[in-house]
Amino acid sequence: MPKQDTHIIGLDLGTTRTTAVIADTGDDGRPEIMGLGVAESQGLRKGVVVNPDAAAEPIRRAIEEAERMSGLIAESVYVSMSGTLLKGLNNRGIIAVNNSDRKINRGDIKRVIDTACVISLPGGHEIIDVQPQEYIVDGQDGINDPLGMLGTRLEVSVHIITGPITVRQNIITAVNRAGLLVSDVILEPIAAAESTLTADEREYGSAVINIGGETTSLAIYQRSAVMHTAIFPLGGSHFTNDIAFGLRTPIPEAERIKRSYGCVLASMALAESGDSIEVPSVSRRPPRTLSREILCEILQPRAEEILGHIDDEIKRAGFERQLSSGIILTGGGAMIAGLPELAEQIFDSPTRVGYPLNVSGTTENVNNPIYASAIGLVLIAHRGGAHHFNNVAGQNGKRLGSAAARMKEWLGKMF
Ligand SMILES: Nc1ncnc2c1ncn2[C@@H]1O[C@H](COP(=O)(O)OP(=O)(O)O)[C@@H](O)[C@H]1O
Ligand SMILES: [Mg+2]
Repeated sequence: MPKQDTHIIGLDLGTTRTTAVIADTGDDGRPEIMGLGVAESQGLRKGVVVNPDAAAEPIRRAIEEAERMSGLIAESVYVSMSGTLLKGLNNRGIIAVNNSDRKINRGDIKRVIDTACVISLPGGHEIIDVQPQEYIVDGQDGINDPLGMLGTRLEVSVHIITGPITVRQNIITAVNRAGLLVSDVILEPIAAAESTLTADEREYGSAVINIGGETTSLAIYQRSAVMHTAIFPLGGSHFTNDIAFGLRTPIPEAERIKRSYGCVLASMALAESGDSIEVPSVSRRPPRTLSREILCEILQPRAEEILGHIDDEIKRAGFERQLSSGIILTGGGAMIAGLPELAEQIFDSPTRVGYPLNVSGTTENVNNPIYASAIGLVLIAHRGGAHHFNNVAGQNGKRLGSAAARMKEWLGKMF
């Protein structure tokens, strides 16, 4: 029999790629990655599901691949979300505690968070996620967990993610159409941070920058809490488009050239000069040969633009010179050569590429920054840092009754 209750499924629903990971949380408490599935995404624009039917198909394929690899069956998944309409804001709540034993209980914690979530929202918008930052008990700040403490006044500061109701609902619809339930929806940079930051980085101040195909997202951490988040409509596809336009070559060629030779620091390309690139032309013109430096001259301004927006946002949010643990780059777009070096110059902070930490697994190929978000979802679920939307209205898990049938279905395909 497949194990039903000791595994967690993370589904990173990106504009470019849909990634499913199945982790076993059985023995030593550290999630072990058992299965991985990847499919090219459909039905998303700039991080948002715009066509749930189209998005469901790659979800199904990614999940089936992960199920086959792990021999486990997925029923309910933790999904990432992105999109520039999602907004992060900070708020505070305060309540009086008057229990007979004066000890703070779970009900008080829930009540103070509810108080912090009283905000005015535009019509059709909702609170999608709430991340507690710190609790203050009778004026004593810096408390992570006030449960059981003595006190009469409880305060909390929170980071709230809001967005149009349709953003989360379309994700749930797409996942349901793929025959699965949604356990929770988590902001992508928060998921990416969960798997890539060390405890010190979280404590002393750092920023995770996740560069996807059409979006780049930011999450700032300090004192072990999410302090600020933002999402921008810029990403790796802009580099590809710039190459296609600048070198007059078709998009698939531009993508290949970017991955094989792309570099966003002209001085780095200069040091490795001698490399030349064959560029196929559009229509029937013969291919041309170009130096790598010309490619960098195309890519560097775009990288400076994307990182420049993030730098402005960090300053606007008041975190300039506060990120002493530096910058962590994740997502497919972070794979382009020279980006950490350029980021170090722009942010004037130590910069590294973020690899997923705190997981083990037979699948050694998950040790790649492109899986940071999918693995982060698993880690958030594992530490219980997620809410549960299992009973969200409109969830339709009609294929779910047949988990065993699905197991049979893919076993049938294998043999
Ligand atoms: N080796 C690489 N070098 C440069 N860019 C890459 C590389 N691999 C992937 N990318 C880019 O990463 C982007 C997709 O990143 P991903 O994290 O999968 O995005 P999404 O969250 O949008 O699904 C694409 O623009 C792709 O071109
Ligand atoms: Mg992504």
